[in-house]
Amino acid sequence: MSLTSEPLRIGVAGLGRAFMLMLPSFRSDARVRLVAAAAPRAESRKAFEAEFGGRGHADVEALAADPEVEAIYVATPHQMHAEHVEAAARHGKHVLVDKPLAVTLEDADRMVAAADAAGVRLIVGPSHSFDAPVMQARAMIESGEFGAVRMVQALNYTDFLYRPRRPEELRTEEGGGVLFSQGVHQIDIVRLLCGGNARRITAMTGAWDPERPTEGAYAALMSFDNCTFATMTYSGYAHFDSDIWMGDVGELGADKTPEQYGKARRALAGLDAQSEARLKSTRTYGSGGDLPKARHHEHFGPILVCCDRADLRLTPDGVEVFGDTQRRFIEAPLGTSTRETVIDALWEAIREARAPAQTGRWGRASLEVCHAILRSAESGETVALTRQCGLTDQETTT
Ligand SMILES: NC(=O)c1ccc[n+]([C@@H]2O[C@H](COP(=O)([O-])OP(=O)(O)OC[C@H]3O[C@@H](n4cnc5c(N)ncnc54)[C@H](O)[C@@H]3O)[C@@H](O)[C@H]2O)c1
Repeated sequence: MSLTSEPLRIGVAGLGRAFMLMLPSFRSDARVRLVAAAAPRAESRKAFEAEFGGRGHADVEALAADPEVEAIYVATPHQMHAEHVEAAARHGKHVLVDKPLAVTLEDADRMVAAADAAGVRLIVGPSHSFDAPVMQARAMIESGEFGAVRMVQALNYTDFLYRPRRPEELRTEEGGGVLFSQGVHQIDIVRLLCGGNARRITAMTGAWDPERPTEGAYAALMSFDNCTFATMTYSGYAHFDSDIWMGDVGELGADKTPEQYGKARRALAGLDAQSEARLKSTRTYGSGGDLPKARHHEHFGPILVCCDRADLRLTPDGVEVFGDTQRRFIEAPLGTSTRETVIDALWEAIREARAPAQTGRWGRASLEVCHAILRSAESGETVALTRQCGLTDQETTT
């Protein structure tokens, strides 16, 4: 592993929506340089070459073999993550793979094993566990000032199910529905705040719209090995918008306006599956359009952490502390971009040989929870978790 201070030379697999969301951080952070990409659409490859002067490859195997590339950001659809991470590892490239790690636990095992065998880093992110206020709350908990974490409540009401989708994003067995795309954010956050080692899940799910036949909502109770417990509630069918409890700041850190209300459902009205997938592709790289300016950190809905000596409320700007006799606010200053913490993790892993919490094993543990929620809802039983890892259970070679 090279320990220089040269910028990380990143290759990107998949120039879609996820890449668009990472783009402001890649553009503004001097620690990274985008040197190549793989994308099936020529339009995206051309736009990438024009902006970054790097090389556009037609497939991920060629990207992984590119000697200019040092690490690969895998931002292709969930079900392709395993194949693309394995290709990267085979060519000795470090990997940042967007959440979820994979759809099946078998694929997750293959990915962890491939990174271990190749001696490369495997980081799963970005997920909202990288949001600066979440990381700040984790550091505050670790300081010991507030005592043990006893209970966490996480809730998010969004229009997720009515944003434009590829057809497989509405089929659970292919990783569709809210668990794999959204639940995994909430699970990552809650595991990070509670120490990682979840033990049991009791859950119910809702699949309420026959036109979009996958889980759009869930409520889950998750317990940890230190008697801590957490509730996680999510609705992707929501008419209520829980961002109003976050100061009208949207998930990506931009201020919301009243005119945005109902936009997703309005845009979807009357579209067939093909037109819907086309609409989704207009939100990708090389199709024009940019993200609204983030003036706050990203967030994933209201989160309360109850500790022995204080309750902590996460906001898009920091952490509000409700102590025994005093209430105060600890700001998390906005750096060069909202996803700077993801670049921090990549940099530390590759340049400083320090793994973040969110390794391949961590991602596999969060994926196990997604499946456990589905199983518990189906069976009506509490499901035991057996593939968990803690915050300091760092990879040996990845
Ligand atoms: N962390 C986040 O905030 C966030 C947000 C959105 C999506 N995601 C994740 O990113 C992944 C992609 O989702 P998305 O919404 O960006 O989908 P998308 O359809 O917008 O983008 C996927 C891209 O991959 C490309 N692609 C498909 N097959 C490919 C191949 N064989 N080689 C190279 N590129 C290929 C497609 O052309 C497309 O541009 C998913 O796993 C999703 O969970 C994460």
